[in-house]
Amino acid sequence: MPKITNNPNLCSIRVAGTGSYVPDKVLTNDDLAKIVDTSDEWIRSRTGIQERRIASDAQATSDLATEAAKRAMEQAGVTAEEIDLIIVATISPDTFFPSTACYVQRNLAAKNAVCFDISAACSGFLYAMSVARQFISTHTCDTALIIGAEKLSSMVNWEDRNTCVLFGDGAGAAVLKRAELDGEQGVLSAYMGSDGNQTDILVVPGGGSACPITPDNAEQRLNTISMQGKEVYRYAVTAMRRACDRVLQRANLKPEDISMVIPHQANFRIIEAIRERLDVPPEKMFINLQKYGNTSAAAIAIALDEAHRSGAIQRGDKIVLVAFGAGLTWAAAAICW
Ligand code: COA
Repeated sequence: MPKITNNPNLCSIRVAGTGSYVPDKVLTNDDLAKIVDTSDEWIRSRTGIQERRIASDAQATSDLATEAAKRAMEQAGVTAEEIDLIIVATISPDTFFPSTACYVQRNLAAKNAVCFDISAACSGFLYAMSVARQFISTHTCDTALIIGAEKLSSMVNWEDRNTCVLFGDGAGAAVLKRAELDGEQGVLSAYMGSDGNQTDILVVPGGGSACPITPDNAEQRLNTISMQGKEVYRYAVTAMRRACDRVLQRANLKPEDISMVIPHQANFRIIEAIRERLDVPPEKMFINLQKYGNTSAAAIAIALDEAHRSGAIQRGDKIVLVAFGAGLTWAAAAICW
């Protein structure tokens, strides 16, 4: 059951820069209707998604991550050598090992960084933020690069209309540093939870040690995403509502104090259910899923970068990030921007 990870003794961290990258190739709902039995109307009305981006065969998850990272580093004004921690949140790593973070380190020539991946599905970027917060607060490192990056197109069954319409590729990144101004700036509170009793409802069942892909089972496409959509939906709403409540409570904030909520970008109906719970107006929910679909760990990271660069969030604004994903996992953070 949920583990509360907010430690009031931790000093805060601030987001010094954000960046994102999505591949050029656009796959529209109409394009998908040529592949599986679906329609633009069904996908839009059930999910809000209009199109998604698809990486090229030559692009691995680390390539998407590297581009997002470069943009975040440029905005933060940090060099590769200043980065002492790289965490990549992903469920579509380049390889089982080494970690995708190590490939990013190589690409950036960030030779002073400690690098590892986090597997927490769509909650991964917020898990990475919490982990980096601990490292920075304890002076284990000064400058962390956290990245959510996915090439989900490589693990989608393009014959399964239940799942293939939902997902897309992309990456988002943030450079985190210790907040030096006052206790009001930076990450105000964080919360994470997991429920391992629900591992079956959103899973890639094959390809790992439990079920290696063999010539005999290759036809079953066990190395692609399998999902019980209605169950996932139900848990997502409950878990994200609870996570929002917890971070607001821990940061001593009321919903009316929040300038913007940046939710996981999976389904506009799930986002609407969270909005109703928080009782905030629609303009306070940042939504870009119509352009990218669900990019899992990348989704909140991309949305945060777009919200920042578009001016939707401004210095001093109080924002809430909230996510939910396979595992099950969920997480939230309240930040004074
Ligand atoms: N196009 C057309 N029909 C589709 C379809 C598609 N792409 N995908 C599924 N269907 C069909 C199903 O086969 C089913 O048909 P049946 O009733 O004949 O068996 C029917 O649509 C189900 O429709 P409905 O009950 O209205 O679907 P839904 O409202 O539950 O919406 C999801 C389906 C997947 C959009 C919804 O359950 C969802 O968003 N779940 C959460 C998924 C998610 O966010 N995953 C990631 C979490 S991080």
